[in-house]
Amino acid sequence: MSSAETAAGPARAAAGTAGPLESPLKPRLMRIVEAWDETPDVRSLRLQPVDDGPPVRWLPGQFGEFSVFGAGEAVFTMANSPSRGEFVECGFRALGKVTWALRDLAVGQVIGYRGPYGNSFPVDSWRGKDLVFIGGGIGTVALRAPLQWVLDHRGDFGEIVVLNGARSVADLCYQKEMPAWAEVPGVHVVRTVDPGGETPGWDGEVGLLPAVFERLGLAPGGRIVVTCGPPVMLHYLFQSLEKLKFPPEDVVTTLENKMKCGLGLCGRCNVGRLFVCVDGPVFTWARMQTLPRDY
Ligand SMILES: Cc1cc2nc3c(=O)[nH]c(=O)nc-3n(C[C@H](O)[C@H](O)[C@H](O)COP(=O)(O)OP(=O)(O)OC[C@H]3O[C@@H](n4cnc5c(N)ncnc54)[C@H](O)[C@@H]3O)c2cc1C
Ligand code: FES
Repeated sequence: MSSAETAAGPARAAAGTAGPLESPLKPRLMRIVEAWDETPDVRSLRLQPVDDGPPVRWLPGQFGEFSVFGAGEAVFTMANSPSRGEFVECGFRALGKVTWALRDLAVGQVIGYRGPYGNSFPVDSWRGKDLVFIGGGIGTVALRAPLQWVLDHRGDFGEIVVLNGARSVADLCYQKEMPAWAEVPGVHVVRTVDPGGETPGWDGEVGLLPAVFERLGLAPGGRIVVTCGPPVMLHYLFQSLEKLKFPPEDVVTTLENKMKCGLGLCGRCNVGRLFVCVDGPVFTWARMQTLPRDY
């Protein structure tokens, strides 16, 4: 297994919230204990189980099915690292039936959760290496859990660069948290917005993420690139990585194909012969190059 290969085994072993006689589709009830807006259209929730059962367990990169009763289920990545405490956070953009219904809920209300599902970021194989996190728009949500995990184990890793981009200043996720990330020794946070998206007084970069990444002049070798963003961003970022000769096995991303069951049962999320819900969602760029272009 290469340095940035996925860690499907432990993640699969951890999957599932139901007991042996319960349906694996049965959600666990979770209460919204905090809710806040990251951007005008991205909202974050903090959730805790309503019951006194075992704490929710997951690994950075895994996802869950979050249900609003009467509306349905939606898939979100767990946005926080398990090293931050026994609560689950998610960040979502309201764009359809479930996400709009979820946006209308308030602190104290109850939703459903099942998971954790999928594989996870191979954070253990990153020890001793430099890391670059490149998040575009809401894709940054998927990078927050591995980033928090790495920050919580800071001594195990080399230099860390966080490149966070969005269409406009208002659309940048985690603006309140970024200063704390940047204060950690050896962590460099670079913020960028698309040309035209800057506001008066903006002191970050202006430019599309692949171009800004190239301008940073980071060399490959002992450096892992962790990225998530819209397909068009990934397309051009992979071109930049190829130009800079980053080994495809040192580049890792997470796919967000449409899903239904999350359990490898319905076939909704397939890419070729793989089911993204169980074989992913985390893939190295090397592995993606072996897949049909369904992602
Ligand atoms: C592994 C994984 C992790 C994800 N993590 C997050 C996350 O952390 N935050 C977040 O906001 N979203 C995330 N998503 C996407 C999220 O699941 C969908 O946006 C959500 O299910 C939409 O539900 P809905 O009922 O509100 O929208 P729907 O009414 O189902 O759809 C509204 C519109 O969005 C489109 N759409 C729905 N799902 C997707 C998708 N997966 N990809 C592209 N277009 C889609 C539909 O075609 C439709 O046009 C993730 C998806 C996957 C598979
Ligand atoms: S979502 Fe059902 S098989 Fe992947």
